[in-house]
Parts: sequence; C-alpha cells; structure tokens
Amino acid sequence: MDNNNKQRPRKRVTKEVLRRRQFTALAVIFFILLMIVLLVAKGCSKNESSEDDAPPINSTAITSGTVPAESEAAVTGPVEEITEAPTAEAVPTEAPTTVPENPNTITKIEVDRHEIYLGVGQTDMLTVIMSPETSTEKGEIWTSSDTSIATVDAYGTITGVAPGTCFITVQAQNNPSVEAAIRVNVTLDGGAGYDNGGYDDGGYGEDYGYGDYGYGEDYGYDEYGYAYTSKGRASQNATPLNMKEDSKKSSKPKSNSADAPLPPVYPNEGLTYIKDILIVNKDIGMPEDFNPGLEDICASQFQKLSEDAAKSGLNIYLGSGFRSYDQQVIVYNDYVARDGKQAADTFSARPGHSEHQTGLTIDCNTITDDFGYTDEAFWLAKHAHEYGFIIRYEKGKEDITGYKYEPWHIRYVGSEAATYMYENNLCLEEYLGLA
Ligand code: DAL
Ligand code: ZN
Repeated sequence: MDNNNKQRPRKRVTKEVLRRRQFTALAVIFFILLMIVLLVAKGCSKNESSEDDAPPINSTAITSGTVPAESEAAVTGPVEEITEAPTAEAVPTEAPTTVPENPNTITKIEVDRHEIYLGVGQTDMLTVIMSPETSTEKGEIWTSSDTSIATVDAYGTITGVAPGTCFITVQAQNNPSVEAAIRVNVTLDGGAGYDNGGYDDGGYGEDYGYGDYGYGEDYGYDEYGYAYTSKGRASQNATPLNMKEDSKKSSKPKSNSADAPLPPVYPNEGLTYIKDILIVNKDIGMPEDFNPGLEDICASQFQKLSEDAAKSGLNIYLGSGFRSYDQQVIVYNDYVARDGKQAADTFSARPGHSEHQTGLTIDCNTITDDFGYTDEAFWLAKHAHEYGFIIRYEKGKEDITGYKYEPWHIRYVGSEAATYMYENNLCLEEYLGLA
C-alpha cells in the first residue's frame, strides 16, 4: 500500500509535470513559430523596402522616412523633389516662354513705295511705318546697295548719283532683321524710261493674264495674297544714325555663298556651256529628251534662301520648278492659242528653250506682276545671288534676253557668277559674252 501510496503521487506529479512541460513546449513552439512568422513578415517587409531603394521607387522610402542616411538621402533627395514637387520644377522651365516680348521690339517695317525714279542729283524720301506703332524705339538704319548709283543718309534722304538701278533698304535699329527695301532707278532726267507706258503700267499681267491663265492650275501654283498696303504715315521717333552706306561691292556674300558652287555639267549631247554655265535662251535650246528633273544643288540652295527669307518674316516658296519639254509644249501652245505667237513669245519660252527644262530654275511664289511689288520680290532681288541665283529676266534687259521682266524667275548659276552679275548689273547673256 505504502508503495502504492508512494507511487500514486509520483504518477500524478509526473502527469502534471508532463502536462506542464507539454504546455510549455507547445507555448515555446507556438512562440517560436510566431517569431518565425514575425521574422519572415519583417524580412519580406525589409525586402520590399530594399526594392524601394532602387531609383524608380525611391520616393516610397523617402516618404516613409526610412532612409535617413546622408548617402541615400543624397541619392534620393532629387527624386523626392521630382516626385513631390513637380510643379515647383515645371514653373521655372516654363516661365521664360510666358515672359512677354519687349513691347518696343519692331516686328515689321513698311514703306509707302517699292520703286522710285530719280534724276542724277535729285532727292526723294520714303514714308516709313514701323510696327508696333506704340514702340518708342523706332530708330532706322538706311543703306544703299550701290552708292555709285544712289545714296541714302541717316534720315532716309535718297539721292540719285548716276544712271542705274540699286536698292535702298531700311532696317529697324532695335531689330535689324526686320527690313523693307525699295528699288531706285536713277536716270539722267529722272524719267521712268521704258517703264512709262511700258508693260508694267500697261498691265503685262492683265494683258496676257499670265498668272490668271490655266498655267497656275496646271502646275499647282499656290494662291498668294498680295498683302502690301501703303499706310502713308511718316515714321515717328526716328533716331538718325551715322550714314551707313552699303555698296554692292562691299557687301560680302553670306556664308551660304561659299556653299553655292557651279551646278554640275551634264554630259548630254546638245547642251551648250559657256564658262561651265549651261546657257539656254531664245537662240540656244536643249534636246527634247533632256529630263534632269530639279537639280539637287538648285533645290537645296533654294531651301536655304527660303529659310533665310523666313527669318525676315517673308514667305518665298517654290511656285514652279522643273518642266519637261512636253510640259512646255502645253504651256506655250496654250498661250499662243490665247494671245497669239507674238505676244506669247515675250513671256513664254518655246519648247526646248525654257530654262525650266534645265532643272536649274525656279519660279517663286505667284507669276503675276504684283509679285514684283511684294517684300518677297525685293528681298529676292537683293539676296538671290548670295545663294547662287540670278533674276534671269531683269528689268532693262528685255532687248537682250528677249523676255519681259520676270521678278519671280530665278536661275541657279552658283554664287560666284551670280554675285558678279548682280554687282555689275549684267544679265546672263552679257556675262557669257553673248551680248
Ligand atoms: N517664262 C520663261 C521665259 C519660260 O517660259 O521659261
Ligand atoms: Zn520661270
């Protein structure tokens, strides 16, 4: 019994101890599991934070305040600025575009005439209007393209010096890229010479309807708004500068000129070259099958010309470029049918004799006499040679070229030849010794 009595408590104690131990063990296991779970959870959380440190997600770490270290802050700092203050960054970059332009900057100049006639020793002045009218800085810069023909002083007084034609240009002193030009014809007696009663006043365009005829539709000429209007108001607040003459001979060609070589010499039979320049006129023609298309150098130089004109707010675009022999047959025959051969021959080349078939010629803008009085035409007359072009059928050269004045028709010959002809007032036939 004693033994039994002694053994029972031992058994009970043992069971209790066992239960406690089991409970303790379970508790420990549970705790360990819990700790493992917590550690795993924390580990995952830490891993996510580490990924956030990668540049694209850095903002998470920063906004949660878990990246206090200087080195990381240095890396993540800019990201925080970008992600949290985008507008603060955007404002300074956009601000300059919204800054209003200087209200005094001259954006446009107009003159009341685009062509004048002066006798030797006679003077004339133009009326100039600058825009915006409210500008208080309307200083003018006057220049002459050839002071041996006409001079201009700081007030815009133009004086005829010797017979010939030149250009007088007025620029805004506070924005010289804005300019207007006028053609000045100096004659011994100040008369308009052949222009009185000539085709300019008689209406070459109206008489022959060159620009209105089907030609435009057939060859895709754009409509051009002839927008020049004379406001007839004297410029105000003009600030005279010292007279700044700019003779043709001293006006160095622009950098474009160096890039304007002679066009390539085509190997085709039946072409006539003088001084390496292809000559085509009423007497000298081309084979029917000569079809070069618009020559690359002509197209690229015209592109430069057009882009530079645009910088002065002018729109000079290609109205017509290459024309094949067959296209010229249609053009010429249409004019003959309408106006008769004699009239058509004064402004339209016979097939095989049009410079448009050379691929070196472009008609600018619209083919109307009005074009000759646009700012674009005056810019073209003054600057075409810098890009290797000449105004092929010049005013005053009709007896030599056989064609009426075509201010829109430019021919590529390279800058050296073009500049020489421009400076010496020569047409191509004269330059090549054919007249
Ligand atoms: N208008 C020029 C002369 C031509 O037809 O080529
Ligand atoms: Zn033409």
